[in-house]
Amino acid sequence: MKKNQQLLTFARQAMQNAYAPYSKLKVGAAILTPSGNIYTGCNVENISYPCGNCAETGAISTMVTAGEYKISKIAIISNGNFEIKPCGACLQRIKEFSNQKTEIITLTPDDIIKIHKISELLPTPFEEL
Ligand code: THU
Repeated sequence: MKKNQQLLTFARQAMQNAYAPYSKLKVGAAILTPSGNIYTGCNVENISYPCGNCAETGAISTMVTAGEYKISKIAIISNGNFEIKPCGACLQRIKEFSNQKTEIITLTPDDIIKIHKISELLPTPFEEL
């Protein structure tokens, strides 16, 4: 459980640098890989709204750039007063680097840590036959 708290702390740190002048929703994500490394990301918005990126997308890009391709855990946090879970597109991105054990860590407004599985949040991912 301490690991989950630590990962949320990394996500919160990344969130501080989020660029979200349009939605005002700052989001941070932190990925733990099997090697023990941590990769973070934040959302980066754009005046042309669809050009913006989610925090999870940034964290995954950083992980892949470092040559790692497996997500043990991913923690997501925002400055909103609700439990933020990855959007549909980010669930598909997380799924790409996940297995059945991968944990998606979130925080409720009451500071309760929640652990989700990708199969719960994305029961019917796109997969080639
Ligand atoms: N956002 C994320 O960074 N991750 C999510 O999983 C959901 C949404 C960002 C995108 C946008 O910058 C802001 O939150 C509001 O939608």
